[in-house]
Amino acid sequence: MDKNEVLKKVYPLLKIIFEKIHEEKILALLQMTEVGSIEEIPSTDPNLIHCKISISENQSQEILAELQKLSLDLFSESIFQTAEIVWEEIGDWADKYQEHLQVFKFIQTAQHSIFIDPRGIPTKNKDTLFIKASLAFGTGTHPTTQLVAEALTQLTESTEPSPDLLDIGCGTAILSMLGEKLGIPQIIAVDNDPQALEMAQENLNINHMKHIQLHHDLFQIKEKFSLIVANILLETLVLLHDAILQRLQPNAYLILSGLLKEDEEEILKTYSDLTFIQKTQREEWVCLVFKK
Ligand SMILES: C[S@@+](CC[C@H](N)C(=O)[O-])C[C@H]1O[C@@H](n2cnc3c(N)ncnc32)[C@H](O)[C@@H]1O
Repeated sequence: MDKNEVLKKVYPLLKIIFEKIHEEKILALLQMTEVGSIEEIPSTDPNLIHCKISISENQSQEILAELQKLSLDLFSESIFQTAEIVWEEIGDWADKYQEHLQVFKFIQTAQHSIFIDPRGIPTKNKDTLFIKASLAFGTGTHPTTQLVAEALTQLTESTEPSPDLLDIGCGTAILSMLGEKLGIPQIIAVDNDPQALEMAQENLNINHMKHIQLHHDLFQIKEKFSLIVANILLETLVLLHDAILQRLQPNAYLILSGLLKEDEEEILKTYSDLTFIQKTQREEWVCLVFKK
């Protein structure tokens, strides 16, 4: 096989579409099966969720059949609008599936080496964050999480660690936990998805985090912060502009991601009352840093 053939190798993905009202049930089903990383694909219909999920090459048909059977057994109906295996020519899906289950380096600087262990089985290793892999977004493999993590580390290392941090849309609480590892003493992590908060709480417990409070409603948080991170979608970041600004202290930093390259202009316009400091990019995703 020559090099081009290797590069063109295709990998199986499970593509599913389901109604938003079935989200909890789908989560439960996926947790019962051997699937890898789960990525939500933007949908034009707000009532439908599209996901693509990495699965192991030799079990693709079994997983599909198992999901359909579990759906019928547990809910007496197929709750998928569509569920199919597609083979895509994406060079690294097989590697991604493996990464999902292996320890990987999350942050590497002269001062910090921080690893993620997605198997969620804690050991005494102080340089590792144990993240229970699940549908709750934030296992550390997504480019936007990595971009925010890098900007957070860079800011913390170039100045004194910020005295506080607000993590909006915390998912698994991965960024808050990184914040605590970097020495930030007071952290509030917010997510409006109860399932994400449950997963976040579990991760805080297994990582023995002491400085992070979880919250479900940004609007109930009255404090102001010297550093805010928000890795959410464009529409939400636009909607939350006033709420975020009200919670920034003078001279505070704001790190925004969850943004595609084409979203950059709208965010720069929306947040033009702040000073734009820096942009970083990975694949089609960008991360923008502002200062008040
Ligand atoms: C892309 S994930 C980011 C997770 C994690 N912070 C990371 O960087 O990997 C976005 C998270 O934002 C949450 N979210 C969406 N809208 C929100 C809102 N208005 N308030 C709080 N959380 C929100 C979602 O539930 C989801 O867990």
